[in-house]
Amino acid sequence: MRLLALLLWLCVASSLARILSTKGLYGLVRRRLPNHVDHFHFTIDYSNITGADGYDQFMVQSAPNGTILVKGNSVSALSSGLHRYLTEVAHVDIYWFIGSRLDQIASPLPRLTKPIEGSSTVPWRYHFNTVTFSYTTAFWTWEEWETQLDWLALQGVNLPLAWVGQEKILVDVFHEIGLTDTEIATFLTGPAFQAWNRFGNIQGSWGGSSLPRDWIDRQFDLQKKIIPRMVELGMTPVLPSFTGFVPMNTTRVLPDAKIVRGSQWGGFPRRYTNDSFLEPFDDHFSKLQYSFINKQRAAYGNVSHIYTLDQYNENVPYSGDLDYLRNITRTTWQSLKQADPDAIWMMQGWLFYAQSDFWTGERVEAYLAGVADHKDMLILDLFSESAPQWRRTQSYYGKPWIWCQLHDYGGNMGLYGQITNITVNATQARIESPSLVGYGLSPEGQEGNEIIYRLLLDQAWSTTPLESKQYFHDWVRSRYSGSGSTPNELYEAWELMRTPVYDNTNASVYAVIKSVLELRPAIDNIAGRVGFQATALTYDPMILVQAWHKLYYAADSEPALWTNPAYRLDMVDVTRQVMANAFIPLYRSLVSTWNTSNAGQDTLSRKGEQMIQLLSDLDAVLLTSSHFRLSTWINSARAWAHGNDSQASFLEYNARNQITLWGPTGQIADYASKQWSGVVSSFSIPRWQIFIKYLKSMPPASFNATELTAQLMDFELHWQHEKWEKPDPSGEAEDLEKVLGRVYSRWPSIFAES
Ligand SMILES: *[C@@H]1O[C@H](CO)[C@@H](O)[C@H](O)[C@H]1NC(C)=O
Ligand SMILES: *[C@@H]1O[C@H](CO)[C@@H](O)[C@H](O)[C@H]1NC(C)=O
Ligand SMILES: *[C@@H]1O[C@H](CO)[C@@H](O)[C@H](O)[C@H]1NC(C)=O
Ligand SMILES: *[C@@H]1O[C@H](CO)[C@@H](O)[C@H](O)[C@H]1NC(C)=O
Ligand SMILES: *[C@@H]1O[C@H](CO)[C@@H](O)[C@H](O)[C@H]1NC(C)=O
Ligand SMILES: *[C@@H]1O[C@H](CO)[C@@H](O)[C@H](O)[C@H]1NC(C)=O
Ligand SMILES: *[C@@H]1O[C@H](CO)[C@@H](O)[C@H](O)[C@H]1NC(C)=O
Ligand SMILES: *[C@@H]1O[C@H](CO)[C@@H](O)[C@H](O)[C@H]1NC(C)=O
Ligand SMILES: *[C@@H]1O[C@H](CO)[C@@H](O)[C@H](O)[C@H]1NC(C)=O
Ligand SMILES: *[C@@H]1O[C@H](CO)[C@@H](O)[C@H](O)[C@H]1NC(C)=O
Ligand SMILES: *[C@@H]1O[C@H](CO)[C@@H](O)[C@H](O)[C@H]1NC(C)=O
Ligand SMILES: *[C@@H]1O[C@H](CO)[C@@H](O)[C@H](O)[C@H]1NC(C)=O
Repeated sequence: MRLLALLLWLCVASSLARILSTKGLYGLVRRRLPNHVDHFHFTIDYSNITGADGYDQFMVQSAPNGTILVKGNSVSALSSGLHRYLTEVAHVDIYWFIGSRLDQIASPLPRLTKPIEGSSTVPWRYHFNTVTFSYTTAFWTWEEWETQLDWLALQGVNLPLAWVGQEKILVDVFHEIGLTDTEIATFLTGPAFQAWNRFGNIQGSWGGSSLPRDWIDRQFDLQKKIIPRMVELGMTPVLPSFTGFVPMNTTRVLPDAKIVRGSQWGGFPRRYTNDSFLEPFDDHFSKLQYSFINKQRAAYGNVSHIYTLDQYNENVPYSGDLDYLRNITRTTWQSLKQADPDAIWMMQGWLFYAQSDFWTGERVEAYLAGVADHKDMLILDLFSESAPQWRRTQSYYGKPWIWCQLHDYGGNMGLYGQITNITVNATQARIESPSLVGYGLSPEGQEGNEIIYRLLLDQAWSTTPLESKQYFHDWVRSRYSGSGSTPNELYEAWELMRTPVYDNTNASVYAVIKSVLELRPAIDNIAGRVGFQATALTYDPMILVQAWHKLYYAADSEPALWTNPAYRLDMVDVTRQVMANAFIPLYRSLVSTWNTSNAGQDTLSRKGEQMIQLLSDLDAVLLTSSHFRLSTWINSARAWAHGNDSQASFLEYNARNQITLWGPTGQIADYASKQWSGVVSSFSIPRWQIFIKYLKSMPPASFNATELTAQLMDFELHWQHEKWEKPDPSGEAEDLEKVLGRVYSRWPSIFAES
């Protein structure tokens, strides 16, 4: 039953992706292994597609002349096979924030003594949350996309969301019905907030400008590069579609249109939220859908039949009536089918978790039932590792769905993982649920902890839960390649972190743990927060100090590590976490000292200075790596203006606002906060200084939270409009080894191993 249903579904879903040319793989080898273009040979081999089996399979072996022969039944199978060879045999890889280290491969290429074979346990491997396009990729260049797409291909991802640049198509559709540029401008949000505009949470843009037309056109050009690359690397892009969210003045041009206002979102004032929603029952809806999809097809070609479409993401439906909900999906589905008879509707299942009060089992069932044909829908169980919805919805009442690891809210920074959940529970779900068709990654921000993301994608090729001890060991071996030896201390460091840091099973914390130093200072214990965006650590911080020592002293055995980009990145990241953890007791101690009636000003001052010194040292550590710099984020935002000053200012405002106030006046303040050099020095430190000064001036009895918040807010609002005038600070950065040496000796209390 399961196999038959799957097969039928896959035939439809992947009918286009299987344009089986190996051209893209040779392109990947040319980009990443330029000295070995003639040493890999890829062959699509259909012989093993035996009918009932829709899964990917590969085999890699060495030819007598040393060529690496990769065979498989799909392009994604081939890239997965290539990756297995590169990591398991040659011990090289490609990484987030570092880029490709594949060129560190030994030459001649290591030979295989016996073939490596692999078979996927699920047909689809998915990547991206809708909001990753704002938190992480908002200002990416094509070069960054190229690295990402090669990463995805090698990791076996065959179903990525392709969500860049859709405003061009949407604006064309709106023009067609007679909306003016001004009317459209009141709808579109700024570049750093497009994800939430696309699913109707917010509208319009704040910060002094509307979305520049240049931005729209340039993003569209970028998408025209991304899509063909995805396709040639064996991926089926998930394309945008018309969702129903429209400019308010749509009623001017379509007076009879059935338009309702959506709900208020995130505490935004009305002009920025309560988006207008054209109800899918309305004939206009299917006309706009038809127009959107046809324009899109004309732009990108006939490359995919899978469309993403979210109508109620953190947006409560106009009515909870079961008939109404069923009608919404039925007519939405029909609109897609009219535009593309092979259409499959993909949606994020986040709403069923985030608005679980509204989405009772009955309502979920009615909503999903509107799509009468199971195979026409695909649901992302968006937060499977912590809040799976597939069980309570009986596997989405039969609709195909993908088990996704969310892991990270808003690009939050913190070493974190739930190993057991993404191996044991993911395997269990595959065995139990007949309509599970994939594993996926749905991080809001693609931040650190890369190993945890790979673990789930690799789990897609194993019938039993992967064993993390061996997995971590193998990771270390490839991670630091290119430096001669791999000292034992590196293995020991990761082994120390593996269970306490990366295998949280404490249900009161369920995603990346945020650091207190990033938050707006307050006297109520902001360090002990559990649940949503928790700040409470689930491990003993001393364990991380021990791991830090192992990492740090590994370079004594192998000094070449100081020039190894993976080592440098990890050293900065782990040091960052150790220092962020050490800030917690300083903060607590300051507040409790202040709260003790006889606390002297001197004591408070001394404690305050210590906190500021720690932050300032943290900033210096972060400055050594471009990944941890505010300037990287701002410069990449500004670059999209191509020298137009007013656009550059608007882009910079967007970049700054997203990671701090998130909204014109702090609607979701600190949600996407960062520990970046430049943020710590120019934003966090001043906030803590305001706080410390306030406590020094105010005895507990006269403490006034409103007053403190107003002072902080005043500073925060001002910061939004600052300009990055400094030159690129990479020149100012000190040598990492030197900074660490200094920080280590200045803070014996933090780095001492006891
Ligand atoms: C797109 O491809 C499908 C096959 O997957 C085919 O049925 C359809 O006719 C094509 N549409 C266009 C407009 O080329
Ligand atoms: C090496 O052997 C493979 C497989 O037999 C073949 O395709 C390839 O052309 C050979 N390469 C060279 C340089 O002879
Ligand atoms: C195809 O099947 C044969 C026989 O079962 C097996 O030896 C071979 O490894 C398979 N090839 C691939 C690419 O999976
Ligand atoms: C919306 O339409 C009204 C007329 O119905 C017009 O007065 C108003 O200027 C329009 N709004 C925008 C933003 O163009
Ligand atoms: C800069 O962009 C704005 C629109 O965002 C435009 O009005 C202005 O003319 C542009 N300036 C120059 C010098 O091109
Ligand atoms: C905006 O949404 C809220 C519910 O979230 C609702 O109470 C309010 O009536 C809406 N406003 C409009 C104009 O629809
Ligand atoms: C749902 O659609 C059916 C068929 O078009 C219609 O009869 C019914 O009134 C609709 N119900 C609601 C609540 O919209
Ligand atoms: C993971 O599996 C365990 C054991 O079956 C179960 O108790 C737990 O609730 C599952 N957790 C999640 C988040 O599904
Ligand atoms: C998965 O995580 C949840 C907490 O989110 C925890 O309760 C559960 O025990 C974990 N499952 C396993 C198998 O560890
Ligand atoms: C300050 O101390 C009082 C009395 O011990 C206690 O009730 C209060 O919670 C403390 N406040 C803070 C911010 O620690
Ligand atoms: C889970 O973590 C929280 C926050 O650190 C802690 O208060 C709680 O005791 C932990 N629970 C378990 C079962 O360890
Ligand atoms: C707290 O400060 C606010 C703003 O300065 C002020 O309006 C309010 O009266 C103060 N509250 C108390 C209890 O003094």
